Amino acid sequence: MWLTEVVPSTGERVDASTPEGRAWLAERYAPAGEEWVRLNMITSLTGSAVGPDGTSDTLTNRADRTILGVIRTGADAVVVGAQTVRAEGYLLPRRSRLVIVSRSGDLDGHRVEPAADGPDDQVILVLPTGAAAPPPVRGVTIMHVDPEGERMRVDVILAALKDRGIRRIVCEGGPSLAAQFAAADVIDEYCVTAAPRLVPSAGPFLPVTRAVDTTPAGVLVDEDGFSYLRLRRR
Ligand SMILES: NC(=O)c1ccc[n+]([C@@H]2O[C@H](COP(=O)([O-])OP(=O)(O)OC[C@H]3O[C@@H](n4cnc5c(N)ncnc54)[C@H](OP(=O)(O)O)[C@@H]3O)[C@@H](O)[C@H]2O)c1
Repeated sequence: MWLTEVVPSTGERVDASTPEGRAWLAERYAPAGEEWVRLNMITSLTGSAVGPDGTSDTLTNRADRTILGVIRTGADAVVVGAQTVRAEGYLLPRRSRLVIVSRSGDLDGHRVEPAADGPDDQVILVLPTGAAAPPPVRGVTIMHVDPEGERMRVDVILAALKDRGIRRIVCEGGPSLAAQFAAADVIDEYCVTAAPRLVPSAGPFLPVTRAVDTTPAGVLVDEDGFSYLRLRRR
């Protein structure tokens, strides 16, 4: 699982499957501030957020999953839309909280199993104030946020998380939630894996409605032809 650094063009190579490789990655992916919002997603070359099985499982590879783990380690919480939990049966991140954004509270198919000795708020379900209470899920804390119309605003959700001391965030999608993060202009760094796959696309992995100017902070490539981009908001 060799990775080569091409931006900056150091040409350094590391084996991401070793502790040294992961430590090297942790330096590259260290959050640049006490408050830091990242988006971390994978896309096919056709812009699809999913592979042939309808999930990102068939786009990703081991190096991508290792980088995902490193990014999670630097975050207080991983934030995802409820449809991602339903589609992918999300697992609890090992070292950070999971925050699920939903209107319905439907977590059907989730595989979220909070550890008995973990913090009380290992899994936070963010629901609009006044939403009907979903059936309780063991270990899931509900956080209400005032909605604007049908939806909760991303900046309001982030402010509520900040009140809980959750300042370093990584949003892992899906496209619908990610687009709201981009539109709210809250993303400090876009971590995007470009998978060398040509699969049919139902729509872009990040459906932005206006251009976002970024500058590359880092690019790694692996031997399978995957690129790992870190783009900072300009
Ligand atoms: N390529 C990647 O990196 C990647 C990453 C993640 C997911 N995916 C794929 O993306 C697909 C899912 O993405 P998606 O765009 O369909 O859905 P999504 O963004 O994961 O979730 C959408 C759902 O989140 C809730 N939601 C989002 N914004 C909200 C807001 N402002 N206020 C209240 N609730 C809000 C709603 O939940 P309720 O319906 O419960 O009300 C909404 O239906 C799956 O196929 C998954 O495999 C790919």
